[in-house]
Amino acid sequence: MTAPSDVGESPTAPARYVVPPPDPPTRAAPPSTLGAVVLAAGQGTRMRSRRPKVLHDLAGRPLLWFVLQALGSLQPSQTVVVVGHGADEVRAALGDAAQHAYQAEQLGTGHAVTQAEALLAGRCAEVLVLYGDSPLLQPATLHALVAARREHGAALALLSAVVDDPTGYGRVLRRDGTVVGVLEEREASPEQRALREINSGVYCFAADWLWPCLRGLPRRGNGEYYLTDLVAAAVSEGRRVVAVPAGDPVEALGINDRVQLAQAEQAIQRRLREQHMRQGVTLRDPDSCFFDVDVVVEPDTTILPGTLLQGRTRIGRDCVIGPHSRLRNAVVGERCVVDASVVADAELADDVHVGPFSHVRGGARLEQGVFLGNFAEVKNSRLGARTHMHHFSYLGDADVGADVNVGAGTITCNFDSESRQKSRTTIGDRAALGSDTMLVAPVHVGAGAITGAGAVVTRDVPPEGVAVGIPAKVVRRRRGAGPAGSQ
Ligand code: UD1
Ligand code: CA
Repeated sequence: MTAPSDVGESPTAPARYVVPPPDPPTRAAPPSTLGAVVLAAGQGTRMRSRRPKVLHDLAGRPLLWFVLQALGSLQPSQTVVVVGHGADEVRAALGDAAQHAYQAEQLGTGHAVTQAEALLAGRCAEVLVLYGDSPLLQPATLHALVAARREHGAALALLSAVVDDPTGYGRVLRRDGTVVGVLEEREASPEQRALREINSGVYCFAADWLWPCLRGLPRRGNGEYYLTDLVAAAVSEGRRVVAVPAGDPVEALGINDRVQLAQAEQAIQRRLREQHMRQGVTLRDPDSCFFDVDVVVEPDTTILPGTLLQGRTRIGRDCVIGPHSRLRNAVVGERCVVDASVVADAELADDVHVGPFSHVRGGARLEQGVFLGNFAEVKNSRLGARTHMHHFSYLGDADVGADVNVGAGTITCNFDSESRQKSRTTIGDRAALGSDTMLVAPVHVGAGAITGAGAVVTRDVPPEGVAVGIPAKVVRRRRGAGPAGSQ
């Protein structure tokens, strides 16, 4: 069952994809009986990480999510993820997205697939096997692989790729153009190592051939059972094997270390940037903008250099975001500006301006036309329409009305260090807070009220009241205010 040593082609010649004439198909496999196995039990030693490899993050989602996403378009009747190293974490991340099988000892990719037999044998006519560390696979490529196996009645079809640097991958061996085996790099001769057609680790098998053959896999010197040995096994039985080269070799990228993780991130970012641009978003410098997969941006918005859009961020039309901004789980309306600022877990209605150098976070909502200038921080607060907060201010746990002017240096003192309690501040419509106002919560400033510069407001200020000093005292009513008690 070992792979033949005859590599067939001259080592540097590009591989020829000669598909032999088909054997009569042994079994018609209706699409509804396609089963899938995703291998995710390995330790991922080369990542040098405590986290299981398949849970490392790419564009805001774990590696494994991308594999399942690509698979989803084939609508397999069953998907089994083989877990082992860090099984509890991987199962928790999976939720009910797929079934799982447990590989107690990581005895190689062949052994890993065997763990799924009990769940799939007799239920699926075809089995697609993918490695959980290959996040760049595209649905169309998987469709082509499944179609090629069916078309040629092959025992197995494998996805290959012709790459510039094949280091680290198994090489596809061909004789007279026909696939005869897959050889791991450590077992390859220098001549074989020079082959540039690699095994991507995606296979489609005829199920009735796969399960018995897996049991016959030889144990290698290192104690492992290699799934790749099935290729030579099929050939030695006179069964057909086809290799389908990926249209874009980047799809074959397997993540074994952090360098490859970064390469995958770059490839995914390229795809996401293109997707957004094609949908009408201007990226002034695409290479410096980073998107998580779930981000939605409406057309005619411009993203300026150095900007990260993360989590479930949603941005409306005609906004200008950046330069150098980070939005995470932000919901942004239309015509907003976010300039060199951070917006996280917060909402901006339409026509909101933030920045430069401001921070809108955790539960903040800025209503239409709010203007935040520089060094403003808003947390767990609502700012009413057209409220301005230009410089050096902090509003936390506050309900602020519309058309309020927040003077430079205004702070909500919302945290009592002794009781360790946070309290709310409420500010009515049209209030004007003087520079350096300290609002010692819980406290209420009435509609149309004014605080003097440096006021330390420890007691409620009535509507239209003018409060000054430390602690602030109400000295008069605002000029032009109506009769006492009016709002
Ligand atoms: C494997 C292939 C190689 C191919 C490359 C593509 C084999 C023997 N080699 O090498 O031909 O070019 O992928 O990326 O298959 N796993 C388990 N249980 C195990 C061992 C591995 O679930 O006992 C899982 C891993 O979690 C991983 C996947 O299988 O997701 C591949 O294993 P890995 O060790 O990364 O294989 P490579 O050395 O990359
Ligand atoms: Ca790998």
